[in-house]
Amino acid sequence: FAGPCRFFYAAQSIDQLPPVTEVPEVALCGRSNVGKSSLMNALTGQKALARVSHTPGRTRQLNFFDLAEGKLTLVDMPGYGYAQASKAVKADWQGLMFDFLRGRPSLRRVLLLMDCRVETKPADRAAMQLLGEAAVAYQFVLTKADSVKPAQREKRIEEVQALARKQTAAHPLVIVTSSETGEGIPELRAEIAAMAAA
Ligand code: GTP
Ligand code: MG
Repeated sequence: FAGPCRFFYAAQSIDQLPPVTEVPEVALCGRSNVGKSSLMNALTGQKALARVSHTPGRTRQLNFFDLAEGKLTLVDMPGYGYAQASKAVKADWQGLMFDFLRGRPSLRRVLLLMDCRVETKPADRAAMQLLGEAAVAYQFVLTKADSVKPAQREKRIEEVQALARKQTAAHPLVIVTSSETGEGIPELRAEIAAMAAA
């Protein structure tokens, strides 16, 4: 990407969203702790851009980042399915996330992150269903590829590829990444760059 990536906005509720512009938006979505913030940092090559944490539920707002000299916006989303959060807090985050995904005309694609170590959860299926119903184009990205043995890795890839084939809103190409080793990062970067405004 040309130029640095710069944080420019945080929204804690749906009425605080930045105005919709011509600039295409790409959002990172997935379970709490799946590695969204780490992937943001790996994609931009800026280690401390988005806050990474061992404690799930770290990202509690929609964080907007300006990329490619203003031609693209990346959105780091709060994670879903965080079991330890209180019901009220979970409902708030989930509501914010779902409202955003459903009603954002500038949202060009959602990267739906799935952990290589964890099976597909009901919360993932709920997110897929919502994206499908809202007709938002999304693409599966497997994370933490460095943390599993080859057999488990292949099994998980096949599982997610099968999901991608079944869902019409899903992009057929599943990208396998590791924010630790950098695997798949150039490939994902190219996918995102292709969506930047001309
Ligand atoms: P929330 O904001 O809480 O929803 O989490 P998140 O999805 O933003 O995850 P985050 O990037 O904060 O990472 C969660 C944990 O996973 C951290 O301990 C990271 O160091 C670890 N992690 C993230 N990416 C990778 C990876 O590619 N490989 C390995 N081994 N660990 C990773
Ligand atoms: Mg995060």
